[in-house]
Amino acid sequence: PPTTTAPLPRDAGSDLDGVPLIDISATGPGPAPLQQAMDLIRRHGPVLRRRLHGRDALFVSDLDLVTELADETRFAKHVGPALQNVREFTADGLFTAYNDEPNWARAHDILMPAFALGSMRTYHPTMLRVARRLVEAWDRGARDGRPVDVPGDMTRMTLDTIGLAGFGYDFGSFERAEPHPFIESMVRCLEWSMIRLSRTPGSDHAAADAAFRADADYLAQVVDDVISARADGTPGAGPAEDLLGLMLSAAHPGDGSKLDTANIRNQVITFLIAGHETTSGAMSFALYYLAKHPAVLDLVRREVDALWGDATDPEPTFEDVGRLTYTRQVLNEALRLWPTAAAFGRHAREDTLLGGRIPLRAGQGVTVLAPMLHRQPVWGDNPELFDPSRFTAEAEAARSPHAFKPFGTGERACIGRQFALHEATMLLGMLVHRYRLHDHADYRLTVKETLTLKPDGFTLTLTPRTAAD
Ligand code: HEM
Repeated sequence: PPTTTAPLPRDAGSDLDGVPLIDISATGPGPAPLQQAMDLIRRHGPVLRRRLHGRDALFVSDLDLVTELADETRFAKHVGPALQNVREFTADGLFTAYNDEPNWARAHDILMPAFALGSMRTYHPTMLRVARRLVEAWDRGARDGRPVDVPGDMTRMTLDTIGLAGFGYDFGSFERAEPHPFIESMVRCLEWSMIRLSRTPGSDHAAADAAFRADADYLAQVVDDVISARADGTPGAGPAEDLLGLMLSAAHPGDGSKLDTANIRNQVITFLIAGHETTSGAMSFALYYLAKHPAVLDLVRREVDALWGDATDPEPTFEDVGRLTYTRQVLNEALRLWPTAAAFGRHAREDTLLGGRIPLRAGQGVTVLAPMLHRQPVWGDNPELFDPSRFTAEAEAARSPHAFKPFGTGERACIGRQFALHEATMLLGMLVHRYRLHDHADYRLTVKETLTLKPDGFTLTLTPRTAAD
């Protein structure tokens, strides 16, 4: 294991703040840097410094410290090294914009209403239409006794949903045996962003960088097609009141300004990425836990059966999704154990002491590692246990709101949270209502990292449910 606990040199201040320093330069972060960091925290405690080639990163999972970091008067979002790499292809899009970039506030204010819970009513029919594409594909799998590729199909579904609901653009992912080339390029861009973090100084990466550039150009080209299809008024290019319509036409509620063309392109790339990778991972983990926990699956079944009885093709309404409270708990519990955007950065607005002891300079970044925050003592003495009853309304009310941060924190928290939860809750409900899930391969969880997290190689076989089961 790549861990050596060594005291920090005097000038780094370790003798003042007593934070363990772990130098991972000998092995690097490897293909699973987030899980490596989780492991370091398991061994060394919920706050530590990780040193790589002389650069230190402070990781925090302790509830009290995260609560402090959530204080917007003292701290703000940090665009750290990972997001700076993502910025190479999303620039000043919402996710990777710097706090003081004017385009962040402009786009945020223009787009916020489109993501309020009530707006999900507008997207609901499209979400349902795409969910039915997935069901058709899974029906074929069930008929042929063929295993379905869970994360692959979840990604097809979330990409088509954000494409259609956001931009009136159909990626047609279920008609393709392989992922849409946009996905392949995007995944490579995300991998490049991650792997670039572990480069040894001085080594040559010209070929990887050129390949990245080609992929980033391709993403931009797809997005330009999406935008020009709209601008040309191409039939079927989508209704004007979706996200793209809003970006092209809406004026800022305060100063009347509009988004410029370059920024709209950056937003579309951002939404296509942020809007589907994480949601698809969340649904995949939820299905994994359902397949492994028959008692939980049974409770979800009762909930959906109470709504849809033995209808073969129920028509879930917008309101139905709000009634799937236990299904939503399952999703939250999956996001607790595997928050698919696992880390977010914060920095101090002024020089300060975190926890009254860890000196931070203004602008210095701190990484909150959500999977380990989600395993702190506030979650009881068996945090590894999958247990959706942790998310009843009473349990939530009794717990600090800072104990659960899968969507980040503060004004830079996830704008798409309601979108993701609506889409995912409805789909999980529909799948559990329709199929029996078989863990035919006795799947052992391996989590793949491409900046986001997914259960790698997870397949299920399906049989249709009958009225009797
Ligand atoms: C921001 C997680 C789904 C769009 C974030 C952040 C997290 C997150 C942790 C904050 C990042 C930071 O502080 O650096 C998730 C998870 C999702 C999900 C776990 C699914 C389960 C979505 C969806 C959309 C979306 C469906 C769009 C339709 C965004 C955008 C931001 C963001 C635009 C940047 C917001 C800003 O800074 O103004 N998300 N997200 N996300 N997310 Fe999500």
